[in-house]
Amino acid sequence: MAVGIFDSGLGGLTVLDAAQKRLPDVDFLYFADSAHAPYGVRDSENIYELTRGAVNDLWNRGCDLVILACNTASAAALRRMQEEGVPEGKRVLGVFVPLIEALTERQWGDNSPPREVAVKHVALFATPATVSSRAFQRELAFRAIGVDVEAQSCGGVVDAIEDGDMILAEALVRSHVDALKRKMPEPQAAILGCTHYPLMAETFQQALGPDVQVFSQGDLVAESLADYLQRHPNMNGEARGGFLTTGKPRFVSDRATQFLRRQITFEAA
Ligand code: DGL
Repeated sequence: MAVGIFDSGLGGLTVLDAAQKRLPDVDFLYFADSAHAPYGVRDSENIYELTRGAVNDLWNRGCDLVILACNTASAAALRRMQEEGVPEGKRVLGVFVPLIEALTERQWGDNSPPREVAVKHVALFATPATVSSRAFQRELAFRAIGVDVEAQSCGGVVDAIEDGDMILAEALVRSHVDALKRKMPEPQAAILGCTHYPLMAETFQQALGPDVQVFSQGDLVAESLADYLQRHPNMNGEARGGFLTTGKPRFVSDRATQFLRRQITFEAA
């Protein structure tokens, strides 16, 4: 009985951790496509193929519901997978919508026309593929008007985190925040639009300053998952919980244990 959580690598652990805290009785099967990370520098066709392969694998292992805990995969593959049709009884959901609903002060599933919201200047930090997809701006435009979004593509940050080089990750975050501030000197809110970035949340907040509200996805996605499972109680599936990787299980386990500060043991997918 497990919900599938998919990411290109370790970033989705920020979503998993929040989901486990919010839903202690639910099991999760986490899939890290570490052998192909980072996704953010790949083209959208390639991201779509990789994402579809991993989600199929999770469905075949008995997960009925799979969360794409990856903005890059959500941007490049989610809409297409849903439009092409998913197998009977299976679902795949992404991470954009809960975040945008929070930013635009909407309740879950409020599909009323776009309206003015309090926040006017938003900085978006994401991978090159997510930024070039403009998926975030598209979802935002369905819900809000008059919001100025400046997107900063944060090349290199995911590779550094996956390699465990946090000093490099920190330096890159600071330089990407500087670059954003040259384009938008006073953002009111900042979106960490990659599930790896909450692992660097303190650095983002320090570099942006205390007046900028930083939004990240863990708690928001966990809350919307709790709501979904309450409305669809049979979507827990028959899979066993655990951690799978297409990379080197020992290396990935060490990094994951370091990030979540508890023992995490990955097995080969
Ligand atoms: N954590 C991912 C995201 O939310 C993917 C990063 C990558 O593989 O480039 O975008």
